[in-house]
Amino acid sequence: MKVGIIGVGTVGASVANILRDNKDIITERSGCEIEPAIGVVSNLNKKRDVTIELTDDIDAVLNDDSIDIIVELMGGIEKPYEIVKKALVKGKAVVTANKALLAYHRYELQDLAGDTPFEYEAAVAGGIPIINALRDGLTANHIQSIRGIMNGTCNYMLTKMINEGVDYDTILSESQELGYAEADPTFDVGGFDAAHKLLILGSIAYDIDAKPEDILIEGIQDIAPEDIDFANEFNYTIKLLTIAKKIDKKVELRVHPAFISKDEMIAKVDGVMNGVSVIGDKVGETMYYGAGAGGDATASAVIANIVDIARRGKGSPMLGFELDNSEDLTLMSKDEIQTKYYLRFRVEDKAGVLAKIATILGEQNISIEKMIQKPLNKTCANLLLATHTSLEKDVVDALKKIEQAGAVTAKPVMIRIED
Ligand SMILES: NC(=O)c1ccc[n+]([C@@H]2O[C@H](COP(=O)([O-])OP(=O)(O)OC[C@H]3O[C@@H](n4cnc5c(N)ncnc54)[C@H](OP(=O)(O)O)[C@@H]3O)[C@@H](O)[C@H]2O)c1
Repeated sequence: MKVGIIGVGTVGASVANILRDNKDIITERSGCEIEPAIGVVSNLNKKRDVTIELTDDIDAVLNDDSIDIIVELMGGIEKPYEIVKKALVKGKAVVTANKALLAYHRYELQDLAGDTPFEYEAAVAGGIPIINALRDGLTANHIQSIRGIMNGTCNYMLTKMINEGVDYDTILSESQELGYAEADPTFDVGGFDAAHKLLILGSIAYDIDAKPEDILIEGIQDIAPEDIDFANEFNYTIKLLTIAKKIDKKVELRVHPAFISKDEMIAKVDGVMNGVSVIGDKVGETMYYGAGAGGDATASAVIANIVDIARRGKGSPMLGFELDNSEDLTLMSKDEIQTKYYLRFRVEDKAGVLAKIATILGEQNISIEKMIQKPLNKTCANLLLATHTSLEKDVVDALKKIEQAGAVTAKPVMIRIED
């Protein structure tokens, strides 16, 4: 079976090299020889550590009838969308690691693929076989919830901030120097990368056809040392969590930093590692842990898809986005989310301020579970509090009203608590 690799960068180079280096076991496990026949790059002059033949002519590879599988590893959205469509129309199987492509076009591509294999294991949590677990291993279950730590950059930064007291700006620069964060880190620290992965999982588990703009996405940029201190004081850690949760006939899909109990398994996923906890109605909680990025780890998942296609052969239907649709679930709106909240208010340290804030919270049906006041200087203090379970809309409205009432000297910060 011949493979054309579109994009021979970090992941593509590893795919080509592992297919070469582990050829013996891959051939044995596939039942046929898998040949990395050609790779496509944009700059043929770039020095790279691969032996695969290279070209910059994508169409020549797509039009080559001897190529059975197109592996899309170039990144982006619209350009790979066109390439994958062309490959599928030509009847070529496709493997991709591209979560951004799938976040926007997974349903169109599934329709187009029909019986042609179209696989994407590496698009979510890199080397962790979470797609396989959800589609196959947990297929007997109604999925009650999925909670993931699926952005290694954010997890590395938060781990350093919490364990070593490093501030956000310092750890962001360090992450950029180490190559963990991009020069423009928004995609990672803003929660968008994790959201793309969540949307894919949300489709497999619940058949929810949502786009990034339909769901709640918040990043880690506003987390300050006082939030970490408060979390520590009450046995919480802070993680950028991706949450997919079924509540009656609605599905919550959200990405945001969250306080979670230090005793939970997922709270122990530190550094650049990824972790995903899935609760099924029959199996209970299962937990998946591993490298969410990196050339070889991601290539491991890409090659698993290639081997699977080689084993099944062409003509097998793609599995995935329609397993649970008999439940007729719909996406819960952001306003309807209910959880506990941690709130941080910077206030003038004078009589009446606390009463004003407490009154507005009370009027919005928000009751306070814990509260601490920490002086910042002679005139200002931080008021830190945790609420009982409240409605997102009520909390958002309350924060607006508190700002409008002039009760605070800076924009209030809210972090959701996932007990
Ligand atoms: N890196 C990871 O750890 C990781 C983990 C999970 C998923 N992914 C996903 O895997 C995909 C690839 O990521 P990566 O990190 O390997 O990216 P990368 O290192 O930037 O590699 C991209 C490759 O695509 C080629 N390319 C880009 N645009 C092209 C064009 N218009 N025509 C021809 N070739 C083009 C580049 O060519 P040049 O080499 O000539 O520039 C390069 O070889 C992305 O969708 C990413 O989200 C990556």
